[in-house]
Amino acid sequence: MVEESILKELIKGAIDARSKAYAPYSGYKVGAAVLSLDGEIFTGCNIENASYGLTNCAERTAIFKMVSEGKYEIKAMAIIGSGDTPAFPCGACRQVISEFASGDTEIFVLYSEDKYEVYKLKDLLPHTFKLD
Ligand code: THU
Repeated sequence: MVEESILKELIKGAIDARSKAYAPYSGYKVGAAVLSLDGEIFTGCNIENASYGLTNCAERTAIFKMVSEGKYEIKAMAIIGSGDTPAFPCGACRQVISEFASGDTEIFVLYSEDKYEVYKLKDLLPHTFKLD
């Protein structure tokens, strides 16, 4: 469970990050914020490319920022898309989240600042691919 005040910060982080999205091709801006297990917040936006397939989703931007700062465990995540429908993480992002999260990690899928749904990773991505 994430404390109310931390969740507010996480949501604010996702919203702020969305404002930095580079999405000239789709026009669809996404923001994400990751809370590391030790309580730090990392944010990210989607970054598109003229070679469309090179686009990086907001979730992966935030996670890669966390990992490149030496943190490897996600406690919770918040994601916000554009418009009033929630942006669920795409399949590729779910797999990347699973690399650094547990099945019980909470994913807050936002409609707006004060409306969201919360899912456990194991419900978004059952039977995760893992090498072990
Ligand atoms: N996008 C994300 O940032 N996260 C997702 O989980 C799904 C899609 C972005 C990629 C692209 O820039 C835009 O949304 C439209 O697909």
